[in-house]
Parts: sequence; C-alpha cells; structure tokens
Amino acid sequence: MYRVARAFPFDDLDRPFLSDVPPDLIKHTAGPKSFEEFQKTAFEVATMFEAATTKHAGKRLTDFDSVLDFGCGAGRLLQFFSPEKQKISGCDVNRPLISFMEKHFPKADIYQNKTEPKLKWAANSFDLVISFSVFSHLTRDSEDRWLTELERVGRPGAIYLITFQGDWCIESKFPIPVQNKLRKAGFHYFDIHTPKGSVMDFPSNYGSSVHTADYVRNEWSRTFDILEVYKGRPPSLYDHENLTSVHRKALANVRSMGQDMVVLRKRLSGTSEP
Ligand SMILES: C[S@@+](CC[C@H](N)C(=O)[O-])C[C@H]1O[C@@H](n2cnc3c(N)ncnc32)[C@H](O)[C@@H]1O
Repeated sequence: MYRVARAFPFDDLDRPFLSDVPPDLIKHTAGPKSFEEFQKTAFEVATMFEAATTKHAGKRLTDFDSVLDFGCGAGRLLQFFSPEKQKISGCDVNRPLISFMEKHFPKADIYQNKTEPKLKWAANSFDLVISFSVFSHLTRDSEDRWLTELERVGRPGAIYLITFQGDWCIESKFPIPVQNKLRKAGFHYFDIHTPKGSVMDFPSNYGSSVHTADYVRNEWSRTFDILEVYKGRPPSLYDHENLTSVHRKALANVRSMGQDMVVLRKRLSGTSEP
C-alpha cells in the first residue's frame, strides 16, 4: 500500500489501493506522471474531499451509502471507498478506462456513458457524487446538461464534490489582461480539442474551461444549493473545527489539488423524474 504521510486518514480501508496503472491511462487522466505520483495526488485529493464531506455532511467518504464518480478515469478516487460497506458506481466515456475499472473494481457498478446525458441510473440513486477535473473541460452547454443530469441521479440532500478551473487557475495561469477578460465573462471555454484518431481521444466537447467562483455561485445555484466554493490553494482552506487530528496532520502534508472545488447539495424538493 502506498503511503504519502505518516498519519493517513485512510488506514482503515477494506479495499487494497491500486498497485499499478498503465502509463497511457495515467497520462489520459492525470497528465504525464509516474504511478507513484498518480497515487500521491490521489491521497492528496481524497484527503481534501474527506475534509469537505466531514465539514458539510458530518461524514467520512466511506459513510455514504451510494457513491457515483462521474468521469472516474482509472479509479484514482474510487479506491478510497469501501465496496463492503457502500454501493460504488463509476462512469467514464473512455473504453480502455472502463475495461481497466471493470477488472480492478469488480464489486463496483462501472458504466461507459455517452458524451451527453442520460446516465443509466434511476433518479435519486446516490447520496454522494464526486467529479474530479471533468467540469474543467466541458463546453458551457454540455456542462449545463451534465449538471442537470447529475442532479437527477442524486437523492434529495445528496452531496456533490465537483472540481473546476476557477479563480485560482485564472490568477495563476493567465496574464492580467486575460484575467480581466475571464473575470468579466465568468465562464470561458478554450477549444483545445485535438483528435488523434485513437481510442484514447477525448470527446469533441472536451477542451479546457474556466469559471469564476461568482459564475459557479450564480449559475449552478439554479440547480443546486451551493454549500462552499473552495479556492484551489492553499490546502489549509479545507481545515475546519471538526477535523480530526489525523485528518489535520494529513492535510498539513498535502499539496494543492490544482483545481477549485464546489460543494453542492441537491435540494429536498429536487427532481423526481425517472
Ligand atoms: C482529467 S480526467 C480525470 C479522471 C478522474 N476523475 C481522475 O481524477 O483521475 C477527465 C476524465 O473525464 C472523462 N470524461 C470526459 N468527458 C466525459 C463525459 N462527458 N462523461 C464522463 N466522463 C467524461 C475522461 O475520459 C477522463 O477520464
């Protein structure tokens, strides 16, 4: 098992962590990293996700009944859930990733979805939905359709952890005049899609999107309650008064996840459409 810091919050997990992921699958989902670096980022992101769920739902990741990872990639985050205690589901558009997931997560419900909704699951299926670095890539229309679809499959009161390229990305990656334009627009999609004619190609609506926190608060609140928008840096933003000492120690050792994150909740009066 891979360890990133001495005080891990995930030592009690009943599933083994991934022991290897092929380099092309790592590159597709996490950029050109070694497996060790892939796992290090996995533990770092999971630590921040769990800091957010303990704050906003009073639950650890393994305390939710039924979890969906939308755009699950090679299971970087699903490895932190418990197939013995929870119903675990993951979907992705990419066939090689889905084949990898079916082999390495035999107890999970793994599904290859289409580029656009719907998903196969019934309304009100999940009490936690996570999505890391998928809403960093979609066109505005596609994003809106997927938010509506993810709202449908969540249960009333369900928690959503969705990362995106937000204020931190705008501040750290663009020159001031571009920053000003992006802030004014609120949302911008960079069409950097470059098909290579391979099974690893990303969908045509998959480029690079940036959002301001204000855009997310204003637009996504049409569909969800917004519980918190976390800026990508520093990780200490994830600290909160009810964090255990083990989590706090782990959080002190993590690097920024490179994405902003929003915590959403499905309204109690949410959709009941099948
Ligand atoms: C940057 S990767 C992140 C993967 C994974 N969440 C992780 O953190 O390792 C984005 C993932 O989204 C998937 N993806 C792209 N468009 C999608 C869509 N419309 N529905 C589901 N998955 C999608 C890609 O195939 C890819 O695996």
